[in-house]
Amino acid sequence: MSVVVRAPAKINLQLSVGPLRDDGYHELVSVFHAVSLVDVITAQRGEGVQVSMSGEGSESLATDDGNLVVQAIHALAQHAQIDPHVSIHVEKSIPLAGGMAGGSADAAGTLVACDALWGTGLSREELADIGARLGSDVPFALFGANAIGRGRGEEIMPVLGQGQFHWVFALADEGLSTPAVYRQCDTLRQGEQIRPPEVSDALLHALRQGDANALAAALHNDLQPAAISLRPALRSLLEAGVEYGALAGVVSGSGPTCAFLCRDSAHSIDVAVAMTATGMCRTVKRATGPAPGARVVTPTG
Ligand code: C5P
Repeated sequence: MSVVVRAPAKINLQLSVGPLRDDGYHELVSVFHAVSLVDVITAQRGEGVQVSMSGEGSESLATDDGNLVVQAIHALAQHAQIDPHVSIHVEKSIPLAGGMAGGSADAAGTLVACDALWGTGLSREELADIGARLGSDVPFALFGANAIGRGRGEEIMPVLGQGQFHWVFALADEGLSTPAVYRQCDTLRQGEQIRPPEVSDALLHALRQGDANALAAALHNDLQPAAISLRPALRSLLEAGVEYGALAGVVSGSGPTCAFLCRDSAHSIDVAVAMTATGMCRTVKRATGPAPGARVVTPTG
């Protein structure tokens, strides 16, 4: 039997970075938005733990103990007190080190796949508790849709919304290191009084109304100046997206992927074509959001 799981990428519609905590993480308020750009995780019974990857960026990913998929397998097996026997293949579409939580999506997808394969029958909440120890964005990848993330991002609260939003993503040649971007954010804000972050009411209202123009005006990422200072070309990329008609552009998470909000599907095709023609990014992808969290799509016997 094999289990196939689709796990979504995320963008942060709002990412407000508060003070640095004693544990080295920053206190956050994030409004997460899952999008239809997914990694596909296929799990089968096997001897011991076998992990393979293909697709976007996979050639530079080791499948050793540092890999979040391997960590997720062991974390679930330990929780369920069973010996891990599984063979997992991940077909990646989410960019590596792109600020879209691809590694977290793979970890979330692995938890869901192994839970189904091994019949451990854990709830989403239990999987999220295990996932939170693997990475701050793993719980959101399990729940998907729109949600507020607090703490270091792992405390998830669903947010009501309506309608679909249309996005164009500009992917860069080379990823950015998340810890490096947070460190740069601290450096740029040195000497400033950092207030506890708060959720934007305007953003939540835009989601409730399904209003793309209002959402465009409310997009905000505190890590954007840090990502731009480490990768100055992102500034012109963001400007180009808006020049070519996007309602707004924002760096996704710690970057360097840039997300451009469009009016509708046809408009997103126009923006994607224009962005491709600029030659300013490695590749361009379109997706819609919100998308569901990591879930089994085809259990086969
Ligand atoms: O939790 P995760 O392993 O995804 O975090 C990667 C890195 O991002 C952390 O080691 C930390 O440097 C930074 N981070 C942070 N504050 C957060 C989340 C992540 O500083 N709330």
